[in-house]
Amino acid sequence: MDKRTKPWTVSDSKELYGIKYWGHRYFDVSPEGEVTVKLKRDDTVEEVSLWEMTKGIRDRGLSMPVLLRFPDIIDARISLINKSFRKAIKDYEYPGQYKGVYPVKVNQQAEVIKEIVAAGKKFHHGLEAGSKAELIAALGYMHDPDALIICNGYKDREFIDLALYGTKMGLKVVIVVERPGEIDLVLERAAVLDVRPVIGLRIKLNAQAEGHWNESGGEKSIFGLSSVQIMEAVDMLRERNMLDCLELLHYHQGSQIPNIRNIRTALTEACRYYAELVREGAAMGFLDIGGGLAVDYDGSRTNFSGSKNYSTEEFCSDVVEIVMTVLGEQNVPVPTLVSESGRATVAHSSVLLFNVLDVNPAGFSRMPDELPPDAHEYVKNMFELIDEITVKNAQEVFNDAHYYRDELHGLFVHGNIGLREKCVADGLYWQVIRRIYHLTKDMKHIPDELSDIEAMLCDTYYANLSVFQSLPDAWAVDQLFPIIPIHRLLEKPATNAVLADITCDSDGKITRFIDLKDVKRSIPLHDLKEDQEYILGVFLVGAYQETLGDLHNLFGDTHIVNIVLDAQGAIQYEHEIEGDSVADVLSYVEYDPKELVSNFRSLAETAVRKGLIKPAERRTYMDVYQNGLRGYTYYEHD
Ligand SMILES: Cc1ncc(COP(=O)(O)O)c(C=O)c1O
Repeated sequence: MDKRTKPWTVSDSKELYGIKYWGHRYFDVSPEGEVTVKLKRDDTVEEVSLWEMTKGIRDRGLSMPVLLRFPDIIDARISLINKSFRKAIKDYEYPGQYKGVYPVKVNQQAEVIKEIVAAGKKFHHGLEAGSKAELIAALGYMHDPDALIICNGYKDREFIDLALYGTKMGLKVVIVVERPGEIDLVLERAAVLDVRPVIGLRIKLNAQAEGHWNESGGEKSIFGLSSVQIMEAVDMLRERNMLDCLELLHYHQGSQIPNIRNIRTALTEACRYYAELVREGAAMGFLDIGGGLAVDYDGSRTNFSGSKNYSTEEFCSDVVEIVMTVLGEQNVPVPTLVSESGRATVAHSSVLLFNVLDVNPAGFSRMPDELPPDAHEYVKNMFELIDEITVKNAQEVFNDAHYYRDELHGLFVHGNIGLREKCVADGLYWQVIRRIYHLTKDMKHIPDELSDIEAMLCDTYYANLSVFQSLPDAWAVDQLFPIIPIHRLLEKPATNAVLADITCDSDGKITRFIDLKDVKRSIPLHDLKEDQEYILGVFLVGAYQETLGDLHNLFGDTHIVNIVLDAQGAIQYEHEIEGDSVADVLSYVEYDPKELVSNFRSLAETAVRKGLIKPAERRTYMDVYQNGLRGYTYYEHD
C-alpha cells in the first residue's frame, strides 16, 4: 500500500514521538492510542492510561495543569540502581558494598522524600543534604543506622551541631568538608559536644565532564578542596589524633554526564586520591562519587547533553570495575561505594499534564481568486510567482517573494499602500512559502534557507502552563524533555507546532523538541476539537523542575496528585496537593488578601455612591473578586 494512504497506527505515533526510545521501562501507548504508565498491582504490573487519569482528576474538581507523581516509579528506580550495583559487585567479586544516598535538592517534596526512604529501606539507601533545611528534613525521616546521611554544602555552627547530634544518636552522618575553614569549626563543635565526628573531604578533580552542568566539576569548580588543602586537612587531623574520623572521599563532576568516558576518567583520578589518603593513615572506608548518572531524555543513547551513552547497569559495572582495578593495583582495601544519584532516581516519576487553549496558525492566508485591477505592480508579481514555482526555481522564487514582501512593507510604512493591500501581499507571500515547502519534500538536497521554512510554518499552540514555574530548565539551560499528546495517537498529527505558555514573556515558549539525531524545531500535533480537551504530557520532569520554578507572572505551583493502583486495579488518587491559589501567590509577594478585598470593596462602594453601578452589581463584583482570590492561577474553563 502507498505510504500516504496507509492508515496511521499507534506504532507510527510511538516512532514519531520517540516514546519507544525514552519511555521503554515505564511509558507506552495503548492500542486505543493513549499513553500508558506501568503501575504495580500487587505482584504484577499493569498499564494504565493517563487519559483515563485525567477524567478522574477532572471529576474531582481539579483542572489542568496537573503534575502526576508515580511512587511506583520511584521504587523501581531505587531498586534498579541498588540491584545494578549489587549485580556488578557480585559479578566482579568486589569485596565491598554499595550504599546510595538520594540528594534532597533534586526534589525536596515531602512525599518524594518519604517514598524514597520507604523504597530505600531494604537497601539502606540514605539521604544527602546540601543545606541546613535539607538536613533538618533528612533527620526527620532517615532513622536507619545502616544508611548514610551525607552533609554537603556550606555549614554554619547549627548545621554542624545537628549533624553531630545525629552521630550521637547512632546515625551514620558524614560531614563533608567543602571549603578550607570548615574543618576547624567541625573539630571545635565535636570537642564541645564530646563526639567523634565522621568526616569526609570533597576533592576538586582535574577531570571535567561534558554536558550542561560540567562547571560543578574540574579544577575551577567553586566547590571542594585542592590537593594542597586536602593535605592540610589531613595534617591537621593527624596533629589532633583524629585521622580515624576521616572516613569518606567525595567528588561531584556535575549533573547529567552524557559520556561514560568522563565518568571513568574522574573515578580513576579519585581512586588515586583515595589510595593516598589510606596511605596517610586515614580510616577511610567510603568513596562517594557524587551525582551525574544521566537520564536519556531523548532516548538516543548518545553522548548528546540530553542523553547518555550508557545504561544504569553499565554505569554500575564500570564504577565497580575501575575501583577494584585501580585500588587493587595499589593494594588498598576497596571502599563502600556511595553515589548521590538524584536525577536518575526521580526524573521518570513525574509527568506534567497541560491542556492546549488555542492555536495561532502560522502565516494564515487565503488565496485570492483574482487581484483588484489597481493592485500594486509588486503584488501582481507576487501573485504570478505562485504558478511559476518548480523544484528547480524554488530558491529563486523564495528570493523574489522576500524582495517583493520587503518592498511592499516599505511602501506601507511610508503610506504608499493601504492596510488592505498589505494584507493581500502578506497573504500571497505565505501562499508562496507554503508551496515551496511542499516542493522541498521532493528535493534531494534542500538549500539551507529553504530548510528553515518548516520552522517558519509552525503553528503556535497556546499551552496552559508556565515554563518558568514548571519547566525552568527548559528556559534556563535549553533542556529538552519528551513531550507527547497523551491521547489521539491513532490519529495522524495534522500540523507542526511550537508551544507558547500563558505568561506574557517572549521566553515563555518551547521551540526545541527531542529527536534521535538532532533537536527538532517543532512538534507534530493534532487539530483541536470543539468538544474535547487536547492534553499533552511533559515527561521525565521529576528532577529539579519542581523546586527551581519561579512565580513569573504570578503563576503558582500546579496541582499535584500521586497515582497508584489498589489491589483491584482501580486508580487511586492520593496525597492530592492543591496548586497555589491566587491569594497564595499574592501573599508570597507581600500582598495581604484581606486588605485587597477591603480596598476593592471600597472601590465598588464609591462606584455605587457615584451611581456608576447598582448595589446588586457591587455584590456580583465582590463575589467574582473573592472567588478569583480563591481560584487557581492557571486558565480555567467555565
Ligand atoms: C553534590 C551533589 N551531589 C549530587 C547531585 C545530584 O546529581 P544528579 O542529579 O546528577 O544525580 C548534585 C547536583 O548537581 C550535587 O551538587
